[in-house]
Amino acid sequence: MIRIFINYRRQDSEGYVGRLYDHLLRHFEADRIFMDVDNIPPGADFVQVLEEAVSNCDVLLAAIGPQWLTVTDNANNRRLDNDHDFVRIEIASALRMNKLVIPVLVGATRMPSAAELPEDLRPLARRHAVSLSHKGFAYDVDKLAETIKSAKSALGKTRPDSETLRRKEAALKQVRDDLVRASESPLYPFRIENRYFPVVGEGNPDASIIFIGESPGKTEATTGKVFVGPSGDVLDEMLAAIGLKRADVYLTNVLLDHPGKRDPSPEEISFYAPFVDRLIDIIQPAVIATLGRFAMEYMFKRLNLPEQRGKISVQHGKLVKAQLSYGEIHVVPLYHPASVLYTPGQKDLLRQDFEKLRLFI
Ligand code: URA
Repeated sequence: MIRIFINYRRQDSEGYVGRLYDHLLRHFEADRIFMDVDNIPPGADFVQVLEEAVSNCDVLLAAIGPQWLTVTDNANNRRLDNDHDFVRIEIASALRMNKLVIPVLVGATRMPSAAELPEDLRPLARRHAVSLSHKGFAYDVDKLAETIKSAKSALGKTRPDSETLRRKEAALKQVRDDLVRASESPLYPFRIENRYFPVVGEGNPDASIIFIGESPGKTEATTGKVFVGPSGDVLDEMLAAIGLKRADVYLTNVLLDHPGKRDPSPEEISFYAPFVDRLIDIIQPAVIATLGRFAMEYMFKRLNLPEQRGKISVQHGKLVKAQLSYGEIHVVPLYHPASVLYTPGQKDLLRQDFEKLRLFI
C-alpha cells in the first residue's frame, strides 16, 4: 500500500492542505496519509526524525501556496533559506532519497524557478507540478490520486525470484538467437555485407521501464550494443538525472538492425515488430517509453490507441494508459535523445519529460 507524505507550511497553505487531505481520503486509507511529524521527543535530532518520516513514505506531495517562497521568520530572513526549516528538510530529504516528489500548486501559485530555491531544493523545479484550482478542486485531486496510483503499480514491483530472472534471461537469449538467424529480414543482406551485428537490446530482464528507440546506428551495429553512440551519451545523462542507470531499465529499438543512414521503412518496422513484441512480453514493463516519432507511432498503432494520429510535439511527456496481455501499462512518448544533438535547447524539455518516469521508479 502506497504511503503519502504531505509537506506544507501552515502559514501558507493550511486551508488548502486540509481540503486536499479530505479529498485524498476518497482514494486512500487515512493511515496511509501523513501530514505532520508529531511528537518529536525532547533531545531527539529533529533532522533525523524528519528524514526518517520521509523515508517511510513512497510519495511526497509538496504543497506550494502564494507565500511558500517568501515567508520570513521574526528576524525577517526567508524561512526557506534556513537549513533548519522543516519544509526544506523534508523536501530536500525526499529529493535526495529519490522519492516521487510532486509539487502541488494551490491558490493559483506558479511553480518557483530553480534560481529562486536554495541549492538542495533546486531539483524540485524540474519535477512536474500539479495545480489544484479552486473551482475544479475535486477533479484535480482525482487526477492527482490517479497519478499516485499509477506510480503504485510500479512501486509494487518486487524483486523477481532467481527462477523468474533465469527464465526471462533465457527467453531474451532465444530472441537474440532467432534474430541472428533471421535471413528473411530486409536488412539481413546489409548486415552480412558490412559484417554488422544485430542489436536486440540490453538491460534488466525484469525492468519496470523499457525504452524503445528508432534503429541502431553504425556504432551500435559494429559493436552489437544498443545506444552506444552520441545519442547514448544523452540517454545516459537523462537516466542519471532521474537516478537510473542502464542496468535498471531495458533499452531496445523499433528496428533491430542498422538500416544505413536513413529512416526505417514501414516494411522493416513490420518485420521487426514480432521481435519487439516478444521483448515486451518477456520483460513485462509497467512503462514503455518511446524515444522519437517512429517508436511512438509504432506503439500507439500496435496498441490501437486514439493518440495514434497525434504528433510527437503534442504527445511528448504524456502518460498514456494502455492494456497489454499481462496488465495495464503506460506509454510515455519522449523525444529522441538525438534531437538534443541537433537542437541543444531541446535538452531541458527532454529532461522534464524524463522526470515523469519517476512515477514508475
Ligand atoms: N539511435 C537509436 O534510436 N537507437 C540506438 O540504438 C542508437 C541510436
